[in-house]
Amino acid sequence: MKQDLLPNCWLTDVPVKGDERGRLVALEAQHEVPFDIARVYYIFDSEPNAPRGFHAHRNLQQYAVCVRGSLTMRLDNGREKRDVLLNRPDQALYIGSMVWREMHDLTPDCVLMVLADSLYDEADYIRDYDRFLELARGAGA
Ligand code: TYD
Repeated sequence: MKQDLLPNCWLTDVPVKGDERGRLVALEAQHEVPFDIARVYYIFDSEPNAPRGFHAHRNLQQYAVCVRGSLTMRLDNGREKRDVLLNRPDQALYIGSMVWREMHDLTPDCVLMVLADSLYDEADYIRDYDRFLELARGAGA
């Protein structure tokens, strides 16, 4: 099932291959993941009450899977906000460009794996929310 959250953000089930030994998910570029993967990072060992994110990206696309534990991802495109609970290794969240994201309530066991279409580039970040709103609303059709 695919659930649209914002025009360029969606939550989707990913195919699970299971047999008597357990389960496995494979994510391939340009198949499940709608871009070529340039970078993978993961967040783990989170402290209680330590929200993360609080930025948007000018261009970066990301594809996130909470492989263990849970968190709430807050998405905001400058017009609409959506909170989504990530708590399943068989679901993925696509986040397009120009979306403010905040990660809240990460459980201590949370492991959030993120696939990205570009290498780390600080110049792609928008870390000031008011600046984000200006750019997001200015860019709006
Ligand atoms: P940060 O952007 O603050 O993480 P979050 O968005 O989850 O709050 O990143 C934490 C640190 O890690 C910061 O020093 C930048 C560095 N970093 C990299 O070097 N490469 C990466 O791909 C990412 C995502 C972060």
